[in-house]
Amino acid sequence: MKHILTSIFAGLLLSASFGAHAGPEEDRKALLDHYRQLMPNIELDDYVYGALAMNPEAKEQYDMVMEFPAYAADVRQGGVHWEKPFRNGNRFSSCFKYGGINAAASYPYFDDKAGRVITFENAINDCLKVNSEPEIKYGSKEMALLTSYAKSLSDNAKVNIKVKSAGALAAYEKGKQFYFQRQGQLNFSCATCHIDNAGKFIRSEQLSMMVGQASHWPEFRAGTEPVTLQARFVGCQKNTRAEPKEINSTEYNNLEYFMSYMSNGLKMQTPVFRK
Ligand code: HEC
Repeated sequence: MKHILTSIFAGLLLSASFGAHAGPEEDRKALLDHYRQLMPNIELDDYVYGALAMNPEAKEQYDMVMEFPAYAADVRQGGVHWEKPFRNGNRFSSCFKYGGINAAASYPYFDDKAGRVITFENAINDCLKVNSEPEIKYGSKEMALLTSYAKSLSDNAKVNIKVKSAGALAAYEKGKQFYFQRQGQLNFSCATCHIDNAGKFIRSEQLSMMVGQASHWPEFRAGTEPVTLQARFVGCQKNTRAEPKEINSTEYNNLEYFMSYMSNGLKMQTPVFRK
């Protein structure tokens, strides 16, 4: 695998200079400029489709699959779970503003009191805890189905991640550092593939751009296999022979925070189909 991968790495090496920028908004703009140069024909709104945005035929097939997705019954099951009253009569919807409508678009956020990033999945478990219900395992099918419904309540809302305090900025910076950190036997960072080489092929797969990657989770891979965003992090780390972190680790939560900020302004859609 190594020679296939190293041979493609010639592109615009944004990752070499990215860290020099002043703050999250400058980072986001630099990244958008980079992708505009790399793929001038793709509209920013279409970045949420990832590699599909680069391949009209695949996008057409995707649109057809999305009309009657095989996972529809699974999402309904998630909806039943979301609506089911707890033993005390409360529901998930009582833990979120406006019953959860558009809530997921502002996650993850940095909680200054707790001193850490709170993902949407953390908020689900916090809700269970305050209502004396058992928590749900991170990365599990149960969490994926529940959030595939709960996050769909934010469909079409724009990703709206804020970095407001020194603590938030530190978490953002750690997420960014992780993204650019070369790791594992192959010595790749996330940025090597999804920034420097976005649009290029690895074997039969075209590499998506990072902007837009965080806006549509869980996905159903092959139409039936629910995968959370952090489970996808594990997949990419394993593929590049790096040691994956635990789902819901501080590292992955900071990474999700950084990546979600980079998708600010793009439309949420949950869940989606991927190959
Ligand atoms: C060797 C190249 C490579 C590296 C390094 C890599 N990935 Fe990926 N990644 C891929 C490929 C190939 C896919 C599937 C095609 C696509 O959607 O880009 C993918 C897909 C993804 C997706 C899903 C995109 C979608 O919309 O379905 C996410 C999220 C992702 N990677 C995040 C990461 C993160 C975070 C890291 C670093 C921890 C990382 N990747 C490192 C190759 C890589």
